[in-house]
Amino acid sequence: MSKVTVVAPANIAFVKYWGARDLDQAIPRAPSLSMTLRQCTTRTTVAFAADEDGEDEVRLRTEEGTFRVPGASFTERVRQHLDRLRQWMGQAGTFRVATENTFPSGAGLASSASGFAALTVAATRTMGLVLEPEQLSVLARLSGSGSAARSVMGGYVEWPDMEVGDYPAMHLAGADHWDLRDVIAVVDPAPKTVSSRDGHRRAGTSPFYETRLQHLDERLEQARVALRHRDFEQLGPLIEEEAIELHLIAMSSRPPIYYWKPATLAVLEAVRGVRTDGVAAYATMDAGPNVHVICPAAEEAAVANRLERLPEVEAIIRDGVGPGPSTTTEHLF
Ligand code: PMV
Repeated sequence: MSKVTVVAPANIAFVKYWGARDLDQAIPRAPSLSMTLRQCTTRTTVAFAADEDGEDEVRLRTEEGTFRVPGASFTERVRQHLDRLRQWMGQAGTFRVATENTFPSGAGLASSASGFAALTVAATRTMGLVLEPEQLSVLARLSGSGSAARSVMGGYVEWPDMEVGDYPAMHLAGADHWDLRDVIAVVDPAPKTVSSRDGHRRAGTSPFYETRLQHLDERLEQARVALRHRDFEQLGPLIEEEAIELHLIAMSSRPPIYYWKPATLAVLEAVRGVRTDGVAAYATMDAGPNVHVICPAAEEAAVANRLERLPEVEAIIRDGVGPGPSTTTEHLF
């Protein structure tokens, strides 16, 4: 039985994927651009027995270091993805999977991105194949978690909106290109009540969705240019505008989705406050109430300091741009 362990990161989108042409295959209606993180990661160990023909085993490692059987829908999503990978590789056999996150799962902090990226890289490797990042991106996306397509690459990643093809993400720049930080204010670590899948499904019902699509290419180009020139004055406002727009689409969908909590607004106000004090920092949120505050390395301490003092903030995660997935011999079983 071969065994591989992979640590794969979450990512935070500066230009967001919201709305799909095909939800099951996560084919996006719009391009996106993200920064791969380094602290928020999933570690997944996958063992593959080519000669066995049983049911795949899936386990979650808890904070206490014990293993538990995950909920039925989680297990089902993992098994479906393993089936897909088996089929793609043209191999028979049984998987054993154990996985753990360094951060809250299902709370809009991209645990499905890191989770399916780790699973895809580890499972294909246990079956004996080391794939190119573009191939891994396509396979990870087929899990239904679109943002997983970006988490198989490090640094800064674009996932273009293509008319045809396999829709792989594209590596734009390495982590060493620009040392941006992400101070994450966790205001609610509980799993969100409306999945991003539902959000994607409802996006087109917002009367503002088509308007969003019309200016997204321009915004993406501005983000690319800002990234190329390491121009935070241009990138920062764009990131925040983009996040607010995603949530406006969510709130104006039918039925509406409110991912924000009062605490989210308190953090947004604090971020405006630090800017008034001359600190360059801008906020972004994925499909959840927690706030990612993006800033250059030199501003990280000031941002963390301010957010730590907010009673609404339950925890701070100090993260930043990272190099992407890696293998490790620190197996989970
Ligand atoms: O990867 P999904 O299908 O969970 O969708 C992710 C959606 C956002 O996180 C809100 C935006 C993004 O581009 O990551």
